[in-house]
Amino acid sequence: MNFSPSITKMIRMDHAHVMATFHKYNRDTPPRVKRGIVDTICLAVEVHAKLEEEIFYPALREVSDNEVLHKSVPEHNEIKRLIAQLRGMESTHPALDRTLYELMQHIIHHVADEETVLLPEAERLLKGELSDLGARMTRRRMELMAPRTPELASGMARAMSGGTMLVALGALIAGGLLLAKRGEVKGYVKTQMRRMPPIPGLRRQQGIWPQVRRWLPVR
Ligand SMILES: [Fe+2]
Repeated sequence: MNFSPSITKMIRMDHAHVMATFHKYNRDTPPRVKRGIVDTICLAVEVHAKLEEEIFYPALREVSDNEVLHKSVPEHNEIKRLIAQLRGMESTHPALDRTLYELMQHIIHHVADEETVLLPEAERLLKGELSDLGARMTRRRMELMAPRTPELASGMARAMSGGTMLVALGALIAGGLLLAKRGEVKGYVKTQMRRMPPIPGLRRQQGIWPQVRRWLPVR
């Protein structure tokens, strides 16, 4: 029996996370915070696009020939091009705001296409498989994220206060742990925690931040 959240729910959560991060950004945001927000968005979108390309789109293609599905790959390519540009820019670069807004226009378009067309279609046509696909997506997400945890943590640490960052991080880790075996859980989290930079004002206990501990199925 698989209790994983459905793949469509996870995709909606990813979209909401990126939109919420973007809402912290404006022209007057300090450069250091801008860098954190841009890096957080780039990493989240990159991983999201890869998961959709590897798992969600192929599954949907088996049962649907929707034209929105055909547009998704060129749309992702445009998004990747803008991410590469943003990564190469200093946080004081005069074109940073414009490039991020351009990226967000594509993302908003992508979110609208998926949430109004593709996700409802998947919920109709892939009904019995959504949870299994969700489990596959979580497993793959953890594989993709594990080597990039320090990058994730440093982007978030700049973009958010310590507490907000831990909530986001805790949710991510807990998501990946839904499938892990009980014994592996603590070891996995400790390894991830050790790779992260310290957060001012927060002390780790036995290698784990207490705020993260409460998301763990094993304490
Ligand atoms: Fe998406």
